[in-house]
Amino acid sequence: MSNDNDNHDQAELYLGLISGTSADGIDVALVDCAEGRARLLQGATITLAPTLRQQVLALSQGDGSFDIDQYGRLDVQLGEAFAAASLALLGAAGVAPEEIRAIGSHGQTVRHRPLGAHPFTLQLGDASIIAERTGIPTVADFRRADVAAGGQGAPLLPILHARLIATPDEPCAVLNLGGIANLTVLGDANGIRGFDSGPANALLDAWCQLHTGQPVDRGGALAAQGRLDRDLLNALLRDPYFAAPPPKSTGREYFHLRWLDSHLRGRDIAVADVQATLLALTVQSVVHALAEHAPSTRRLWVCGGGVHNVHLMQSLKKSLPFPVHSTADFGIDPDFIEATAFAWLARARLRGIPGNVPSVTGARGSRVLGAIHSPRPSF
Ligand SMILES: Nc1ncnc2c1ncn2[C@@H]1O[C@H](COP(=O)(O)OP(=O)(O)OP(=O)(O)O)[C@@H](O)[C@H]1O
Ligand SMILES: [Mg+2]
Repeated sequence: MSNDNDNHDQAELYLGLISGTSADGIDVALVDCAEGRARLLQGATITLAPTLRQQVLALSQGDGSFDIDQYGRLDVQLGEAFAAASLALLGAAGVAPEEIRAIGSHGQTVRHRPLGAHPFTLQLGDASIIAERTGIPTVADFRRADVAAGGQGAPLLPILHARLIATPDEPCAVLNLGGIANLTVLGDANGIRGFDSGPANALLDAWCQLHTGQPVDRGGALAAQGRLDRDLLNALLRDPYFAAPPPKSTGREYFHLRWLDSHLRGRDIAVADVQATLLALTVQSVVHALAEHAPSTRRLWVCGGGVHNVHLMQSLKKSLPFPVHSTADFGIDPDFIEATAFAWLARARLRGIPGNVPSVTGARGSRVLGAIHSPRPSF
């Protein structure tokens, strides 16, 4: 739990909630958004109950065994878990629910299909339950307005990255190493840009879980024991997603174990070598994306859980011709930027301020994001 105990008198307090594509836990952030800033006061990650995580992963990877009743129950269970996470953080911070203007809840993405005849993106975690249990107005469904306007609905982080990592004289990029890796490009002549570069922890976790029973390859130890299989890496990198131009975004429904299996067929590769190759896939897809779409980048700031994967960070540093840092070196906790973003976007929603960046998502224009679920008649 991170903590920044200033007095809250002048603060405008919001909570941000997200369970990311890794489904490792619910991140909850208490954020001061006075005057449009986004200052993390306290954050916590509440591990998802294993049964809940299993259901999320099964639904997200589209294994076909889910029915609509399970889906409805999971929506409610996740809503309850988000509400409990909110109340736990407020209890730990000594802040009463009445002091919170609103909760911004991203929810749990279970499907993201921004392309095709009927594009959609689906996040679970019933926001009415969150509002009812906490007594706090809750903004949710942040991605749909952007998709309705022809956008990808993702990534939504760039607007906050641009606020938090202000280095006007130096073109830089921010890399979020979540289940999927997403890049924000800042400070070059083209304005704010951003896109998902490809898979990150989702595949590393899945392969590690399958072969070792551990949900995370701690520090990248398994990958570090293996040797990169260059043929496999080249085959993986030939997937058309990597060469597609932005705007683009992706998820677990695309980069899952079945995708990896389709490339492993006919190859006999040791478990650790596959893990090493998956780690190299994350690194190389980022390296190629920066070279192709942000060649003037002079520094990379990294956030998200992957920042704790020492081997992954070392490999990134070796593969890029400029400095690579954790956002912690900028004074920003790398584990709570996403949750902070949804607190900030909740404030934007209440004030009618657009939350998308059309140059990132490809939407037809700026849109106010999210729907408000309020338990208070006077709201
Ligand atoms: N010590 C560590 N060593 C290796 N990997 C780690 C470590 N700590 C965290 N991780 C990785 O980070 C992941 C969680 O990161 P994060 O919470 O940013 O991802 P996420 O919830 O999927 O978010 P997003 O919405 O950005 O995809 C874990 O699943 C794990 O793969
Ligand atoms: Mg997470």
